[in-house]
Amino acid sequence: MADTWAFVLAAAGSGNRLGGTPKQFRLLGGRPLWEWSARVADGLYRRGMIAEIVGIFPRGLLPQAPSWLAGPFSAVSGGDTRSESVLNGIEATGADYVLIHDAARPFLSERICRELIEQTAGTRGAAPLLPSVDSLKNLKDGRMLPMSRDGVMRTQTPQAFHREELILALGESESGSTDEASLWLSSGREMAAVSGDERNFKITTEFDWQVAQSFAGGAADRRVGFGFDVHELVPGRDLVLGGLKIDSPLGLLGHSDADIVCHAISDALLGACGLGDIGTLFPAADERYRDADSTALLAEVLGLLDSGGWKAVWVDVTLVAQIPRLGGIIPAIMDNMSRRFGAHSLEGKLSIKVKSGEGVGSVGRGECMNVHAVATVERCLLTGTCEI
Ligand code: CTP
Ligand code: MG
Repeated sequence: MADTWAFVLAAAGSGNRLGGTPKQFRLLGGRPLWEWSARVADGLYRRGMIAEIVGIFPRGLLPQAPSWLAGPFSAVSGGDTRSESVLNGIEATGADYVLIHDAARPFLSERICRELIEQTAGTRGAAPLLPSVDSLKNLKDGRMLPMSRDGVMRTQTPQAFHREELILALGESESGSTDEASLWLSSGREMAAVSGDERNFKITTEFDWQVAQSFAGGAADRRVGFGFDVHELVPGRDLVLGGLKIDSPLGLLGHSDADIVCHAISDALLGACGLGDIGTLFPAADERYRDADSTALLAEVLGLLDSGGWKAVWVDVTLVAQIPRLGGIIPAIMDNMSRRFGAHSLEGKLSIKVKSGEGVGSVGRGECMNVHAVATVERCLLTGTCEI
């Protein structure tokens, strides 16, 4: 049987150096600090990498499981020292292996967790390390002594261990270790290193808290995309714009339903995320897309965005059409678009405007329609999703 893993979140400290409310319960971006790590752990659960989450909290302050959590969650009381806290946490799970993480490090990445799991084997643990960038000195009784930086590494969490072996190691050690890797290594046990991440810093001081706040507030990857489409106006075809069939003697010619509004929006969104274009995703040569409902194609595009962690922020569309006159039906097109796409709804995120062709050029002569669309999208740089 495959090894099972538990994510054990150490959140039982008192946060003396930061002061005020214990830091794990302070709100960061509207969420208690500890939930940031729980959110990443829940992502690991959803991907089948861990089986459960155990949170260790101060006695009498055990929180409820957040409603968004998909996996099993239990909250246990910590102790006066970190080692006591961690022991309580790992005794509350039956998993073979554990990832022990500081709740004071909200910006951990799934990449680190995955590499730790890969590097842990038998009774060899694993921890993320980062090189020391500053030059080092040893200050003893006011006397400064040189110290080599060579090979000196800073240790982060999560740290990965064989659970029963860690119980033994904790029992053998004197309490006072600031992390489990230290006591593990002091006892002669082995550990593998994975690359740490500067973003995975520990919030200890007021300055760290301020950095975390600006990080949490402004860490979105925001982009802009542009989409354009043109279709010929011909007799004997339906005119479908934004999923709405419009009464018109002329319709747009195309392999699909030729809904240029949906096409331009799709291309703007895909372009913003660097995901290609609808011509490549839904080729005209493919019989599946003959007379296809373009709102269904746009729904697929919105699903693709979602799986990449992107969400649409705003879409602005300009339709250029001489005939038929469309001004009066724009609200109906907007309304129709707003009621579609379920969880990926564009309601409140869409603007559609119309221009005539001023009687000039191919649009002005009523030979075709054009649509231009601009879309902005964003995704959270820290967690890879915008949900938090
Ligand atoms: N921790 C714990 N149990 C303890 C002490 C610490 O679970 N008895 C946890 C903290 O909640 C924190 C992590 O260990 O997530 C790292 O410790 P640290 O940054 O030192 O947090 P605090 O001990 O809370 O802060 P301080 O040392 O400033 O009081
Ligand atoms: Mg402490």
